[in-house]
Amino acid sequence: MPKHFRSLQEFTKKELLGLIDRAIELKKEKQAGRIHQQLMGKTIGLIFEKPSTRTRVSFEAAMYGLGGRVIFLSGRDTQLARSEPLKDMSRVMSRYVDGMVVRTFGQEVVEELAAFATVPVINALTDLHHPCQVLSDIMTVIEKKGPIEALHIAWVGDGNNMANSWIQAAGIIGFDLTLACPKGYEPDAEILAASRKMASKKIQLITDPAQAVTGADVVNVDVWASMGQEDEQEERLRIFSDYQLGRELLAKAPAECIVLHCLPAHRGEEITDEVLESAQCVAFDQAENKMHIHKAILERLIV
Ligand code: CP
Ligand code: NVA
Repeated sequence: MPKHFRSLQEFTKKELLGLIDRAIELKKEKQAGRIHQQLMGKTIGLIFEKPSTRTRVSFEAAMYGLGGRVIFLSGRDTQLARSEPLKDMSRVMSRYVDGMVVRTFGQEVVEELAAFATVPVINALTDLHHPCQVLSDIMTVIEKKGPIEALHIAWVGDGNNMANSWIQAAGIIGFDLTLACPKGYEPDAEILAASRKMASKKIQLITDPAQAVTGADVVNVDVWASMGQEDEQEERLRIFSDYQLGRELLAKAPAECIVLHCLPAHRGEEITDEVLESAQCVAFDQAENKMHIHKAILERLIV
């Protein structure tokens, strides 16, 4: 059975922090000009059914940076768009490539591909999870603020895929996480319950964004309408209007707190241009770290 990366849940705290340590090391080595070749002769397939800038390019750059190759497949150009069964696609792809990186809608697509694959399947975002992103975000937090176990992380906005992966991370690693989400837009109830059960620190779900950011070391925001929810955009703009991270809300957090946004950002919606462009916001470091964390993941799973 190959080792997959369907969600953070399939890794231990030691493994997740080990991937981050390795990514930090790979980042330093790249900065020092070291050439890596550990994935020479290996090829991964990227199957993307939703748009992507960062995740696609950082996975491709990571694979090339380790001496490997990539084949990019847009979902609509494959036979998946014509209803070829996932179990067939998975077994066929497994004969050609050494790993699959998948961005899609339902988590069940990743699960089914993994169930039939003889090579690792990596989740590059589903409606339920965005695990590789949250791992690079935690790497960024550790670089900026030190061990995450001592920190208080706030999530403000939609209880979406990113929120779910943050909850899983809080359960596995053990750090304080407070999520402020409007009623009806809470994160996945099962993920929350399971993560709370294993958590050594508090995972709180509230509705008040000011309360969430008070005392926070890190404030985390994301779009109000995720990919696939475009037709809810107008309604969400109304419902989330009190959840915008602007100067006023951020002033309720300690001055040394950092702001995370996985990007792409909708300036003037979940975050103001002023906060996104401020020195407190580390969104572009997060984006860079995606490449380093993807190298660590690929090295661990593909070699
Ligand atoms: N953060 C992120 O996943 O960005 P992309 O949608 O551009 O890949
Ligand atoms: N929650 C967002 C994240 C984008 C990287 C979405 O799913 O569209």
